[in-house]
Amino acid sequence: MGCCKCCCILLLVTVIIIAGSLGLFSAFFPYPSHASCRVDWVFGKSCSTVKSTFISQIKKWSHNDCSLKQQCNYEYLGEDGNAIRGFHVTPWMSFVDRFNFTFTDGDDALCHVQAISESAASYAIIDFGVNYCNLRNLVIGSKLDENDSYYKENSTNSVCTMYSIAHCNLYT
Ligand SMILES: *[C@@H]1O[C@H](CO)[C@@H](O)[C@H](O)[C@H]1NC(C)=O
Ligand SMILES: *[C@@H]1O[C@H](CO)[C@@H](O)[C@H](O)[C@H]1NC(C)=O
Ligand SMILES: *[C@@H]1O[C@H](CO)[C@@H](O)[C@H](O)[C@H]1NC(C)=O
Repeated sequence: MGCCKCCCILLLVTVIIIAGSLGLFSAFFPYPSHASCRVDWVFGKSCSTVKSTFISQIKKWSHNDCSLKQQCNYEYLGEDGNAIRGFHVTPWMSFVDRFNFTFTDGDDALCHVQAISESAASYAIIDFGVNYCNLRNLVIGSKLDENDSYYKENSTNSVCTMYSIAHCNLYT
């Protein structure tokens, strides 16, 4: 290794250590400190319809035949008031992610959903967008967003690991 390259690496490591100790980590790392995703959706349907659609989709994919990639390994754990809970195990790697959805009927007659997926592994920082896709794939699979002119999604890298670069594809 050339001396210059060596110095560069040392400098980089030093900067990371100093930045970390100064609490400047978030300036370099735009994602949550633990692999997780919070995403908000709006649907132009009643929350009772939206909630039951999510529940059926989770149950439909609760088998462990992963020949159709991500369309498996979901588990429905039940509901508490206006929230439902479950978990998903990533087919490759077997990461366990817990998720929940909270449904709120708005004054605008739309259903506002807050969804959260969080890696059960405390050490997980990077997830290749898996926590986001755990949630998003249920929307794609159930076609809840199709032909819904009120449909909206919002999230951001600071609350959703790798949100801006995640490509949820049910078939890869
Ligand atoms: C959803 O999951 C998050 C993160 O694990 C947790 O903080 C929150 O209390 C849960 N919400 C519900 C309604 O279960
Ligand atoms: C959306 O509209 C298209 C065209 O009318 C239709 O083929 C499709 O089944 C609709 N999807 C849903 C989920 O209703
Ligand atoms: C979505 O947008 C609303 C309004 O700007 C904001 O309060 C909320 O935190 C956003 N949700 C996420 C998951 O970023």
